[in-house]
Amino acid sequence: MWGGRFASGPDAIMEEINASIGFDKRLYKQDIAGSIAHATMLGEVGILTRDDKDAIIAGLEAVRAEIDDNKFTFSRALEDIHMNVESRLRELIGEAAGRLHTARSRNDQVATDFKLYVRDCIDMLVAQIETLQRVLVSRADSEAGTVMPGFTHLQSAQPVTFGHHMLAYVEMFERDKTRFLDARKRLNQSPLGSAALAGTSFPIDREMTAKALGFDAPTANSLDAVSDRDFILETLSAASISAMHLSRFAEELVIWSSAQFSFVRLSDKFSTGSSIMPQKRNPDAAELIRAKIGRIFGAFSSLLMVMKGLPLAYSKDMQEDKEIAFDALDNFSLCLAAMTGMVSDLAVNRERMAAAAGAGFATATDLADWLVRAANVPFRDAHHITGRAVALAEEKGCGLEGLTIEDFKAIDERITSEVHKVLGVENSVKSRKSFGGTAPDNVKAQVALWHGRLGKE
Ligand code: ARG
Repeated sequence: MWGGRFASGPDAIMEEINASIGFDKRLYKQDIAGSIAHATMLGEVGILTRDDKDAIIAGLEAVRAEIDDNKFTFSRALEDIHMNVESRLRELIGEAAGRLHTARSRNDQVATDFKLYVRDCIDMLVAQIETLQRVLVSRADSEAGTVMPGFTHLQSAQPVTFGHHMLAYVEMFERDKTRFLDARKRLNQSPLGSAALAGTSFPIDREMTAKALGFDAPTANSLDAVSDRDFILETLSAASISAMHLSRFAEELVIWSSAQFSFVRLSDKFSTGSSIMPQKRNPDAAELIRAKIGRIFGAFSSLLMVMKGLPLAYSKDMQEDKEIAFDALDNFSLCLAAMTGMVSDLAVNRERMAAAAGAGFATATDLADWLVRAANVPFRDAHHITGRAVALAEEKGCGLEGLTIEDFKAIDERITSEVHKVLGVENSVKSRKSFGGTAPDNVKAQVALWHGRLGKE
């Protein structure tokens, strides 16, 4: 395609390091859509004759059908998807194929293709995140009143509801979605027609190609258009933050499914056994999510490294963007699907969680709050009195609710038998009715809001 000034072809190693067809072939649909939009526009403004334009478009559609049907032979000697498609087009329609590349370069072409690809990816990932959210909301609905220990420092802190815990992730994934959609807005300008870096002397209509490809507008600066990889960086950044949420959740599932916790049981479909220990049910999917997330963070920093030293405009370094991004986005999508499957199938052990919720003096704050409310004790003093009650319960080997009224009176005269009402975990969560709190009624109200926003499962 560019052999005019070359006496020999590339060395085999040169070909190997230079070729991107091994990974960029997956851009063929976007590449052909971009070429069809370009050819249509060239015909419209009179740069191509109607016959040439029609032949090119029919030829491109034939190439697409060949690739769709696995009948296309990709060639590494032709470097990348753009050259592979164009070369096959020439075989199919002859000389007219050579006119397609008028007023265009592979630099604006690849930027256009990749933007179209990333845009589709964002739409797919957002839909996947919503599916996961719906599953979480449905679990929250059925477990609105299920009491579990809430942790800080992974130490029992205060009882919460399992539904509230599920809805915490729904909030995170909602923010993630908005980050993807925000990246999509900025991405949606068409580089096509920026040509190699300086624009073109041909009277092209970039508004027309932008519109045909679903972009909001053409990019305003040709140098920026072919140099910009912000769109994929932003997408990887959104993916990284969301992946971090997935990883924290995966870690919780690993902990909760251990024999020691036994808060949840992952279904057979999402567990694996051990070849030597028959009792084992391993949470491999959760562990792999936790691990794969590292590749997504890695992709984000890899691409930042690739880009940080590049002078304007295009440099071949930028070809390295795709393999990294494909791997990261594929794996992110897989992790979302695996998490959705695990959450929709997992069995919740309500008895076990309720028992654990009461352990570790988790209602100590409720006792302190009661002293403030019922006996007008300043909170700091109430904290101290409660601390003594916890110490006594520890000594007696019981929970706070196991202390008798005489025990309490010995610690502080102001405590009455009314206190026992606030010491149970059920009462504790029911009382947390402040906006955003864990009370089952709050969870139900939030579930209703989410059903309105997301639709039911
Ligand atoms: N395969 C190249 C890439 O992915 C396409 C652009 C090549 N442009 C060039 N001037 N060599 O970046």
